[in-house]
This record gives sequence, structure tokens and C-alpha cells, in this order.
Amino acid sequence: METTLIILKPDAVQRGLMGRIISRFEEKGLQIVGAKLMQISKELAATHYKDHQGKPFYNGLVGFMTSAPVLVLAIRGVGAIAISRNMMGATFGSKAAPGSIRGDFGVSNSFNLIHGSDSPEAAARELSLFFKAGEVLDFERRIDTWVYDFGGGKPE
Ligand code: RTP
Ligand code: MG
Repeated sequence: METTLIILKPDAVQRGLMGRIISRFEEKGLQIVGAKLMQISKELAATHYKDHQGKPFYNGLVGFMTSAPVLVLAIRGVGAIAISRNMMGATFGSKAAPGSIRGDFGVSNSFNLIHGSDSPEAAARELSLFFKAGEVLDFERRIDTWVYDFGGGKPE
């Protein structure tokens, strides 16, 4: 099982899309194991997006991400990182395919609704930035025996 860090960005919160976006992850079969409504500080945004420091869009990105509250989620499942990235769609709303979150809910390239970790290393780093020990929960869902095939002894 993988756990990934998802952020519903300020535009998703302001536009009242939190519930619909969370529903997509739940309907897919992924498990919400952490959730926090918060306003990101400049320092946290800078740490989170440190790989983008110096790029032309960096100041706008940090300004946007700190402009209003976000909903931070920890989402778990087999292959959750790649599955979530596929569900999000391409970075720019104008290019994201229909059926994806960015493709269905937005047109803007910078107000693109959602962040998702792009690798296991990024997920571990980002989860530890946004969640303290004990805030990401381990709990059983009875429905997992229908979400996954456990016939081989592990979820497939
Ligand atoms: P995110 O990190 O937010 O999940 O998005 P991503 O992986 O799809 O895209 P990334 O390359 O990591 O870029 C982070 C955010 O910066 C903005 N961006 N603007 N104008 C530009 O060329 C440009 N490129 C990136 C986007 O808001 C993107 O989500
Ligand atoms: Mg990224």
C-alpha cells in the first residue's frame, strides 16, 4: 500500500469543489487516511515547492497556495501515487483531458485545483511536512475485501 499527499488548492476550496473531488477518490476505491483544512504559511509553501524555486512561476505559485485555506489529504491504496496523478490530469487545466479532475473542473493553468505527490520519495517528504505523527491513521475498511482481490494473499 502507498500513501500520497493530495492538496485541494485554494481555488477548489473557494469554488466549493472539495466534496466532489474527495468523492472521486472514494469512488475509485482509495482510502482517505488523513485530512486537514489549513492555511499554508509562506515558509511551508517554500519548503513544499523547493524544487521550483527560481522558476518564473514560483512567486505566483507560492502566492496562490498561501492566499486562502487548502484541504490537505493523505490518500492510500495500492499504486495510490500514480493512480492519483492520473486522476488529477495534466498540470494545466487548459490541456488536462476530460475525465480528469483538472480536465473536468477547471480551465486555468495556474489555478489547477489539486496537488499530488509525484513519486514515493516526494510522498514521504510531503506527508511529513503536512501531517504530524499520529495524524495519518491506519484503519481497516471492511469494503476493501470488495475493492481488492485478496485471493493471492495480498491486495490486487
Ligand atoms: P503540483 O506539483 O501542484 O501537483 O502540479 P504538477 O506536479 O502537475 O506540476 P509541477 O510541474 O510540479 O508545477 C507545480 C505547479 O506550478 C504551476 N506551474 N506553472 N507556468 C508554468 O509553466 C507552470 N508550470 C507549473 C502549476 O500550478 C503547477 O501545479
Ligand atoms: Mg508537482
